[in-house]
Order: sequence, then C-alpha cells, then structure tokens
Amino acid sequence: MDDRIEELLAKLDLQGKLRLISGAGLFRLAGDPAIGLAEMPISDGPSGVRGENWDERDPSVSLPSGTAIAATWDPELLGEIGALIAAEARRKDVYAVLGPTINLHRSPLGGRHFECFSEDPLLTAEMAAAYVRAVQAHGVSACPKHYVANDSETDRFTVDVRVADRTLRELYLYPFERSVEAGAWMVMNSYNSVNGVTMTENTLLDEPLKGSWGFDGVVVSDWGAVRSIAGAARGTDLCMPGPPMLWGEPLTKAVRSGEISEEAIDDKVRRVLRFATRVGALDGPPQPTPDFTDAQAQDLVRHVAAQAMVLVRNDGTLPLRDGTKIAVLGPSAAEPRFLGGGSATVLPGHTTTPLAGLEAVLPVTHTPGVRLVEGLIPAPLELITDPETGTPGLSVRYFAGTTEIATQHRTTASLVLLGDPVADRASRIQLRARLRADTAGDWQIGFGGIGHVRLDVDGATALEDDVVLGSGDPAAALLNPPQRYVTRTLAVGQEVDVRVAVDVQEAVPGLGIVLGITLGITRPRRPEDEEFAAAVELARNAEAAVVVVGTTERIESEGVDRTSLRLPGRQDELVTAVAAVNPRTVVVVNSGAPVEMPWRDDVAAVLLSWFPGQEFGAALADVLTGAAEPGGRLPTTWPKTITDVPVLGTTPDNGTLDYTEGIHIGYRAWLRTGTEPAYPFGHGLGYTTWSSSDLTVSGRVATITVRNTGDRAGKQVVQAYLSRPDSSVDRPVRWLAGFATVNLEPGDSRLVEITLPPRAFEHWTDNGWATEPGAFTVHVGTSVTDLPHTAYVD
Ligand code: BGC
Repeated sequence: MDDRIEELLAKLDLQGKLRLISGAGLFRLAGDPAIGLAEMPISDGPSGVRGENWDERDPSVSLPSGTAIAATWDPELLGEIGALIAAEARRKDVYAVLGPTINLHRSPLGGRHFECFSEDPLLTAEMAAAYVRAVQAHGVSACPKHYVANDSETDRFTVDVRVADRTLRELYLYPFERSVEAGAWMVMNSYNSVNGVTMTENTLLDEPLKGSWGFDGVVVSDWGAVRSIAGAARGTDLCMPGPPMLWGEPLTKAVRSGEISEEAIDDKVRRVLRFATRVGALDGPPQPTPDFTDAQAQDLVRHVAAQAMVLVRNDGTLPLRDGTKIAVLGPSAAEPRFLGGGSATVLPGHTTTPLAGLEAVLPVTHTPGVRLVEGLIPAPLELITDPETGTPGLSVRYFAGTTEIATQHRTTASLVLLGDPVADRASRIQLRARLRADTAGDWQIGFGGIGHVRLDVDGATALEDDVVLGSGDPAAALLNPPQRYVTRTLAVGQEVDVRVAVDVQEAVPGLGIVLGITLGITRPRRPEDEEFAAAVELARNAEAAVVVVGTTERIESEGVDRTSLRLPGRQDELVTAVAAVNPRTVVVVNSGAPVEMPWRDDVAAVLLSWFPGQEFGAALADVLTGAAEPGGRLPTTWPKTITDVPVLGTTPDNGTLDYTEGIHIGYRAWLRTGTEPAYPFGHGLGYTTWSSSDLTVSGRVATITVRNTGDRAGKQVVQAYLSRPDSSVDRPVRWLAGFATVNLEPGDSRLVEITLPPRAFEHWTDNGWATEPGAFTVHVGTSVTDLPHTAYVD
C-alpha cells in the first residue's frame, strides 16, 4: 500500500495536496479524479448513521445511545450492532462514521454523558475496541472521539483541562489506546485544550497517538476546532468542515513562504490516501456490507435495548403477569426520548413509544400526569397536511430573491438545514401546512428559528420578528432555536393555514447555511392540577402503575452541561403520589445519565431505560412482561443526591478546569469518600437467581463457577476487580480489571474465565508503565460493592 501511496502523492501539486486535507463540504472529504480518488461523504455515528444530510426523507435506524450500549457489558453484541452501522453507512453512501464517543463520565453533569460509555476506562475501552473492530470489519471507518479530556461541555471550545500525565494515561487516554490497537482508521480530536495547548495542535497527537501507539490513520479535527495556521504542521491531518477556510488560502501562503514545511503536509496527505484505500475510495469499490431488512434491524435494536435496561430495584412486582391492567403515566410515556440531543441525532423512520409498546401487550389506561414545559413541539404529522400534495406533512419552498428555486414535500415540521445544497442558495425559506385541531381549546401556533421570521395564520400576518441566536453553544441553539407563538382558539376538526417564512442568513460565518426551522404547536391542555389528579386516579384504579419519567432535550444535550440532577417538572411529585395509591408502582427512567430518584425506596421497581433507540416501546414491553431479561448493569454510579457526588464540577475557573481528583473518578471516587450511592457501578438485577463459587486464579486468568439457580433463563455479568491495599503508589480502593457476560438456562452452570490484562496491574510513572512487585487481590462478584470472592495473584 505504501508504494501506491507514494506514487499518488508524487502526482499531486501543492494545491492538490492541500485540497485533500480540508473537507469538501460539511460532511464530505475531497476527492481528486486525476488520481482516481472519490469524494468521501462521512456521517455522525455514535447512535446511528444520519448520513451527510439531516433529512427525514432518508431515515436512519436509531440505535441505543452510549450509556445504553455500555450497560449491556457485552462487546460481542457490538459485533452485530457494528454490522448494522456499517450497513447503514453503505446504504447512505458514507465512508466513515464519527463514533464511538469515548470520553469518560467524569461528572454526571456532563452534557454528552449519554453519548459516552462509562465512568470506567476499562469498560469504555472494551466497548470502544469492539465498536471499532465491528464497524471496520465491513470496510467502513469508525472514528473514536474526542481526543482527549473532552468530558464536559461548559466552554467546550476554549476550556483548558489541567490533568496530570498519570491520570491521562490510566484513564482518559486508555480507551483511545485500545481503539488504536483495535485498528481505528480515524480519530477525532477535541475542541478543548489540555495543559495549555489546544488539542488540534497538542503534542499528545504525536506522543502517544502517532508515536508509541503507532496510529497510522487520519486525525480529523472536531468541526471548527482548527484554530491557527501555525498549528497546521502539528498532528491534525484533516481540517473539518469544508470548504477550506484556514487551511485554504492562508495555509497555501504559509507553505509557499516556508513557514510550514511541505513535508508536514505530505505526511497528512499520505494518511488521507491510506484512509481512502482502506475504505475503498481509491482503486475500486468499497467492500460490500451485510444486508439488513427493516425487520432485522428493528429486532436487533429491540434486543440490544432490552439488554441495556438496568433493573436497579424490584420487590417482585416485575415481571408483570399476563393481562395485568396497568396505568401508564408520566410525560415520557407518549413523548419519550429515543436518543440524545446534538450531533448524535438521527431521524428514524419508525419509533415505538413506551405507551404504544405496552398497549400492544397489556390492557392500558393512560394520561401523562405531568407535562414537561418545553414550549412548542414540532407539529405532529397526524395533524398537518401539505396543501400542495394533500398528504401528511408540509411544503417547503425555497426562494432566491423573488424566484422560487425549489419546492419540497417534507414529513417533518422540524427542519435542520446544515450545509443543505438547496438552502445554501436560498434567501428565503417558507414552510406551509394546514393544521387540523384534534382537541378543542387554546392552541399555541408558532415557530422556532432565527433571522427575520414571519408567521401567517389563515393568510394574515400573526407575528413578525428579528430573532437572534442567543448566547451559548451555537450548535445547541441551532438545534433548539428560539421560539415565538400566537394563541388561537380552535374547535375539534377546525383547520388553519399556517406559514412560516424565514429570511435566511449565515448564522455562523463561513459555514454556509446552518439553520433549524420548526413549525410548532402546543395542544390545549387541561389545567396542571387536574392533569396530575387524573393520573393519580388512573393509578388508583389499576393493578399496577408504570410511570415513565425522564429528562428533556434542553437538559441533556450536546453543548450544555446539566446544572441539576433532578427530574424536571413535577415528575418526582407524580411518582410519590402514584406510589401512595398503588403499591405496585414501577418507574421507568428515560434519561441518558443519572438523575436523583428521591422516591426510589418507596416504589415497587425501578428500571433505567437510558436513551434506547427507536424500539423503546417494544423493548420495554419485553422487559416489563418478562419476555426478555433486563440485561443491563450500571456503567456509571447513580448517586442519591447531587451533593454526594464526589467529582461534580464542570465549570472552568478562569478558563481552566482542573482534574484535581486525579485517577479517582466514578466509583473510585465514591469508594474513596466512603459515601454510599443510590446504586453502585456494575449493579443490576435480573429475573432469576444465581450462585457463584470456586474462584481460582491461574496466571492472569480468573476462573469461577456460575450457576443459574432460578427457574428461568437469565444473564449475569461477572466482574473482576483488583486491589492493592499496601501499595506504595496512590491507587483506587479497587478497580475493574475484567468481566464476562453469561447467559444460562435454569439450573445450568458454567465455568467463567476472565482474563486480567497486564495493564490492569500497571501504573504510569515518569519512566513509563511499571508493575509493583508482589501480590494483588482479585475480587469477583456482580458489582463494585458486591464482591464475595477473593483470591491473590502475583
Ligand atoms: C461534535 C462532534 C461531531 C461534529 C460533527 C461537533 O460539534 O463535537 O462530535 O462529530 O460536531 O457533527
């Protein structure tokens, strides 16, 4: 391959080389017909493959988010998910998926916590390596991100993370190290600085990434993270997005003047060409990927979602018996979150809500009880008709001046126009739909968007405003733009004509059109207290209550950290009131990260669903009825209250965020402070019972016999931790060293082997990795605090 790359490199002049190291578009790498190199579209990818554009007409399979995937503790399952991701990538003609997100859960407030796997570096690394192998096995590149110490969102573009070498090596770099070992072809660096140097120019790209780890792929910048020409000679190989700005004309001049050496550019071009060869963009078509029918994809997502759900508490109420009459309550029952917000968003063609999933298997009554005040929602498809086509949806017309340049029929009332080729040419965009009221009362009708926006209702201008992008993270604001609305009283069946017209402007100079426009509504609602009381009444009259609570897109999303771990609105109050009238109250928590559950000891069962992807309802029904085992175990500690959390702060002080806790994050920190969390790392219940015995350790392999002592099949995650009480170096009380996932039929037993990798015994010193001589203690069990078996290993 190397000769071929040199041959191609020799054919490129400086311009040709520079073209290849910047994007050709927002999500597209440049090609060069003269050397047979195809353009390479790429896509975000941690929980599904959106594709190059943000367009519901080309939907994507929505997968469980990072915390959910990690909660399976099952790298083998990732083999199947990876095949699906690769198939989705090929279907959407993309060569690389920008995932997995492998930063760590340093603080539960971190806005992208849902997207990352775990607080533990080993669990994160195992899942990351499995993801990389699984996707790349089919010729599609993965892109572990964001290198490195991008563990929270506050001031994410500028924050300088101060972190000691040892902490970096043992914790934050480790998942990247393992991803590179697994063969990653691309790695994305982060927006933040580490120890004073922005990551797109940081020497951590040279050492260890390209140096001792031998990474020979492409280091791609996070979108907009390249900051200077001077830094162009350093480790970042590919500047995204395109078309080229900083690395266009200014870089050409810098190379011509000798300020930046052409040799440095050549190294980047070699890497891009090597990448192109690997993904099949040079010398031939890309490798074929497995075929998935819609049904196969749905089955897989449903299975993984059930495997990810963590049952943290159960008094025997679960699984629910056939025919149990249930009240399904809570705001997330009918309006759940399938996935987290931000760049990980995909637009699924099919979803099942918890309400729909449960209605399919049990007799159900429903009301939300609490609504999460979130302003307008995109007008649901069942309420809007495109006046042009007469079919569900809306018409979108694009004008350049007074000339109409395109009309589209769209089936979403929330458009995200990111580098959209039609929108890029437009000066004005108009959304139009007939809205049909399905409830009598006061409707709010309006829009979300920025720029000069006008709302017409039934042909009359209802409001007109110059809406500016608020402060804060532009990505978050664009996906959740400011809203304006008017109120109209409508009868059932009444129709109104709604038009939203936006005069388009470049929100972020140089990026082209980056715009979110929503045609939004709020249905009439009964008064809050009445709604609340109605839910409690349904609970009182049901055999069991299932309350689905959760966070919102505004709270848990890219670009913002949380400020509280409480469930928004009156959800806690609802759970308490429901539990008071129905002793068989099951709470389902639909969040990507820990929330406080002050009522947790007063309810019959608590199931954490995470953001489980498009088959939420079906998977939930499987788990609640016992058709599937709740297969998840906690990949992160769940606190009782925010004040107990040992590592919490994500707000930089004077531009710096100090990781003063060093190697003690997650359960390591909890163990050190001795505070008891609500539920410890590794915890999770199933529907059967287990015994384990006869732990032995031979060499670096722990072996233990595990038996399913119950009367139904089940899954257990056997976890091995190390400790070193009299160590001469600062260490966690104990740390995860390996794990194994077992599925057993009732009465069956198995000899489970857990390999303890050398790294689990090593610590980082000024002279590199070192192993303390003498014995380490091995603890085996089913959570970081439930470890009945002990052995010693040298
Ligand atoms: C995010 C990345 C993402 C990129 C492209 C950035 O803002 O941090 O994770 O891949 O946008 O969407």
